[in-house]
Order: sequence, then structure tokens, then C-alpha cells
Amino acid sequence: MKIRDVLLSTYGKASSVPSAVNQLMTNFAVGFRDECDINLGVGYVNEQTIPHQQIQLACEKVLADPRKYRAALNYGGSQGSPNLIKSIKRFYIENRIGGITEETFDSRDIAIGANGATSLLESITHLLPDGFVLTADPMYYIYCNDLARKGFNIIAVPEDEEGLDTAHLKTKLAALGNQKQAIRFFYIVTVNNPTCTILSNTRKRELVDIVTQLSYEIGRKIPIFFDNAYSDLVHDSNVEPLESALCYDELGIVYEIGTLSKILAPGLRIGYLIGPKGAFLNSIIQRTSDIGFSAPLINQEISSYLLDHGIEAQIEKVNKGYHEKAKAVKNWITELLGDGVEACRGGSAGFYYYLTLKQLSTDATSDFFRFLTRTTGKARIDGPSDAQHPKVIYIPGEHCVHPKGEMVEVGKRQFRISYGFEELPQIRKALELMKSAAAYHNNLQS
Ligand SMILES: Cc1ncc(COP(=O)(O)O)c(C=O)c1O
Repeated sequence: MKIRDVLLSTYGKASSVPSAVNQLMTNFAVGFRDECDINLGVGYVNEQTIPHQQIQLACEKVLADPRKYRAALNYGGSQGSPNLIKSIKRFYIENRIGGITEETFDSRDIAIGANGATSLLESITHLLPDGFVLTADPMYYIYCNDLARKGFNIIAVPEDEEGLDTAHLKTKLAALGNQKQAIRFFYIVTVNNPTCTILSNTRKRELVDIVTQLSYEIGRKIPIFFDNAYSDLVHDSNVEPLESALCYDELGIVYEIGTLSKILAPGLRIGYLIGPKGAFLNSIIQRTSDIGFSAPLINQEISSYLLDHGIEAQIEKVNKGYHEKAKAVKNWITELLGDGVEACRGGSAGFYYYLTLKQLSTDATSDFFRFLTRTTGKARIDGPSDAQHPKVIYIPGEHCVHPKGEMVEVGKRQFRISYGFEELPQIRKALELMKSAAAYHNNLQS
């Protein structure tokens, strides 16, 4: 008898093929040659920013103090370790991050995700019904891809140098008319991925005002989630100190999502959500229980220890490193790609530059991409099949912009490069190869 394959749900079917970016990165990772190929595509942090020794020490301290860090190798509670929650509060209040005070927490709570900020973002997709989600364009393609597979309809509003363009947003909202009822939430990345554009405090406040008004208009609270993944990585001292959106929230709609991935280590998998106490936050905590009870308790306690001991110096060190890299890479972009670059975002926070080229396509079928990944099919460019010339990967803009949005055309000339993972000599080499790739394209055209 003929037997059919496993019956998949719509989400299962959509997930059974890897996303375009995953496919790209996997193809590149297969046969990746250390010391030869250069990965400017991954969002990995720089290994040198990870405090290996302090993490080892923190682990010892935690295990040596079972009175404070109770049963650290056992299961944890689903809201998160009380020690860690206290440390996060202290970290915010004492450092006055974003203007958060003791009172900010009177009506709010913190929940630790099962597996980093990503698990909290993913939980939202299960707890809110599908419908419209508003975000900035270019958008955080990993989460937006997840949202699309779960049946959400993304409306992406182009950003300018201050973040999501609120005038443009108002026009889009007006055009929705009655369909506004189907808006489920706003997702705003405060230092955007891929562009590293910093959402200004003015824009942040405007966004909270707009969503507050919208909530009143449709008679239901619409949550606005601010993803602060890179907000501790503002390394340019000319940038105004970032305020927390929680300070602007009068209705109880603002949630902030943070992570220790970028300032300590992604491997700890610690992300947290701060927001108004109530049904939504409770549902997040239940969801954490459903998907793994809690983040590993030992990692939560280690993180608590690290937040209580020397986190300020750690953040300073991390930012100093990225700032130096940002400056060097910007100079090389100007020196090597100079005339061909129409726009370049980033450099003040996080570790990405997002470039728009004047004429050149950057998508996976372009000459530029093929040259850099050695897939032109020409031995002269690619090198011999058993010893190919060095390869470089980046994230093409076509995967960062909304596929049906207003940036589709310009997205074909854009790309994100990360200066996080690779060291400076490799990044310089990659930019030199990009210069050659541009020359290769120009030769083919002439
Ligand atoms: C915008 C954004 N949010 C969330 C994350 C993931 O955070 P976590 O490591 O805590 O899951 C990333 C990682 O690159 C990110 O870029």
C-alpha cells in the first residue's frame, strides 16, 4: 500500500524548507575554510568580547553558594530565577538605563525567556492571534520570517536615519481603514537589525503615542514590543542617551525585550521581557513553562552573578572593541568601495553596516555575489575546484526588505556586513575582494 508522508500543519509545511537566508548561510558554512573564507554574514558576536574567565569564575561562585543560588543545577521556575530578576532590576535602576527607576517596576514585571530573546519573540506568535504586525523596513528578517510562517501579515514602514518614519506610518494606518481592527502588535528594533539605525528618543515617544491613540480608537490595547537586543551596544559617544519606552507608557502597552547575548555571551541564552503585569505577561510565563520549564537555571544564576559583579566594565570593554572596529571598517568602506556606495547606515551602535550601492545588484544571482562566493563558473575567478579562491559572504538586501514592500527595488542593491565576528585583517581583505567583485561586474557590463 502506498503510504503518504507525515501530515504537516500549515506552519509545519512552511518550516519544512529552510528560509532563503538559512540556505545561503548553510551553503557557505559547508566547506568553510578557516584562515581563508570570510563570513561577514553571521550575527555572531566577537569571541574576544566574551568574558570566558569571568563566566568560569561565576559558575564556581554559584555552585559554592547553595544558600543564595539554590539548586542551581535543578529545574528552575518558569518566570525565571529570582536572583536574576533582581539583578536585572538593579542593573537598570542603578545604571539608570533609559531613565528606569524603582517606580517603573511597581506595575511591571520581568520574565526570563526559555532560550534567549528569540524564545520570547517566538512565544508572542503563539499568544496573539494572527493579523497585522507593524515593523520598520528593512526588517529583522529572522523574526519576520518566523511571523510570516505563522500566518502573520507584516506591514513594513521604511525607516530614515532616526528609525521608523512615523509620518509614513500614519499614512499607512489611515489607508488601512477598518482593517486596523486586525492589527495585533508593533515590533520595533531600537538599534535595527540589519541597518543598526538607532531609533531616536523623539521617534520612540511618537511611536508610543501613535499606538496609544490607535488602542483607544479600536477599543483594545495594542502591544508595542521594543527589541533592545543592541541597545547596550551604542558605542558612539555623540549619540543621545537612549531612553526606555517604558517611561512613556501611560496605557500599559509597552514591552521591552532585552538579551545578555551581545554584552556577555549568546551561549548563555538569557533574554528577558519587561512589561505591565497582567494576562499577557502571565501567558508568556506559562509559555516558557510549556517549551522547557525555564532557561537553564545554572545559566540564569551565572548571569545574575555577572550582572552583580563588573557588568559596567564588561559593557565598556565590549563597546570600546566594537567602536574601534566600526571606525576602521568605515574608513575601508570609503577607501575601497567609495564611489560605488550610495548610502551607508550603521557605525554608532551594534556591529553591522548596511550599504546601498549605486548601480550594482547584490542578490544571490548577481555578478557581485557570484564573484565573492566563487560561483561564477569561471576558473579564472573562482580558482581551481579543489583550491578555490577566498570566499566572502554577506546578507543580501533582498532578504532584509519586505518582499512586497516599498523597498524591494532598492533592496536589490543593498547588503548587510557584520564587523562583529571576523577580525579586522579579514574584514579588510573581504572589502578588497568586494572592490574586485565590483570591478568584475563593471567589466562584464562594458
Ligand atoms: C534584533 C534581534 N533580536 C533578538 C536577537 C536574538 O537574541 P537572543 O540571542 O537573546 O535570542 C537578535 C540576534 O541577533 C537580534 O538581532
